Amino acid sequence: MTILGVESVVFGVADVAEHARFWADFGLSAESTSAQEVVFRLPSGSRLIVLAHGDARLPSPDPFPGDGLKETVWGVDTPENLERIAASLASEVAVTRDADGTVHCVCPDGQPIALRVWAKRPVVSEASPVNTPSSYPRFNQHRIWRHKAIPKTINHVVFFSPDYVGSFEFYERHLGFRYVDHTRGTGIFARAAGTFEHHSIFWVNCDLPIAPDHFKFMHIAFGMDDIDEVMLGANLMEKKGWKNQSMNSSGGISRHRISSAIYYYCDMPGHAGEAEYHADTDYLDDNWVPRAWDFRFGSLLWANNAPPIFRGDNIPWDMQFDADRKSFEPFRKSKPGKLPVTGKLAEITQDDEHAI
Ligand SMILES: [Fe+2]
Repeated sequence: MTILGVESVVFGVADVAEHARFWADFGLSAESTSAQEVVFRLPSGSRLIVLAHGDARLPSPDPFPGDGLKETVWGVDTPENLERIAASLASEVAVTRDADGTVHCVCPDGQPIALRVWAKRPVVSEASPVNTPSSYPRFNQHRIWRHKAIPKTINHVVFFSPDYVGSFEFYERHLGFRYVDHTRGTGIFARAAGTFEHHSIFWVNCDLPIAPDHFKFMHIAFGMDDIDEVMLGANLMEKKGWKNQSMNSSGGISRHRISSAIYYYCDMPGHAGEAEYHADTDYLDDNWVPRAWDFRFGSLLWANNAPPIFRGDNIPWDMQFDADRKSFEPFRKSKPGKLPVTGKLAEITQDDEHAI
């Protein structure tokens, strides 16, 4: 069974027009617009769909209160593989079908998902070669000059989970997702088998002080060509008046150590979550060896304004290969629920939310 990535995401919001303005400013192209629904289409063919609260196409019951990403639709390569996945899911959870064959269910952690066959489109994406003092592949040539930021793909989605180990294992069991990396006590990164991006989904532990005590959407990341396009997008969003409340907590523009990706977060309207410009991530396949990390070491390679918890000399260079998944054991739960927070995790404050 091969899932190719996020075919579409469905948002439920109070103010459709305001969210449509946000996504248009962010660089997405609207395919259709009405008072009740706006559909954006990315070059990869993925769609971002904004619906008004109460729309019959949204999952019911609502997975969490307020605005946010309510249903993630995974794209499957063939009808045969869609049937195989649907049968596997039906062995554990209730599965429903639309007239067009789309499969819906709710994961045990509370995440509504859907699956449908997806004709993923090839994306045109190019970055300038990088010169160093001894190697200059961009000889006699300036960098690509851009005048707008255009998200090319939906790179990954992120949710808070009351049982993040269980969330991953459900995806592995039925959707064939691969274990990529684990930030101990913070969350697991997993990759859809039909894509090479470092992660397609990340579950964040609801036990963290920054987290709600229930399943909830956190952020969605979009694939950009390079750091220049990320920064251009950040500048354009700021110019259009979109506030980045997380600027001080995420360190503005930065690079994760886990995944190696350049990132910049923008706050969506209605406290719906964040939209992430994302570039230069690691690409990998099944030769990858999963790793377990200390969250302070894994979060940032550098930042232009690193949050205090990621500064100082006491951050351990702590990364271990974890093919045997021993790192899961302290965080495994028999059933979802909020555990008391102790030790290092208690040090993570609200200000560090965006650096994980
Ligand atoms: Fe992200």
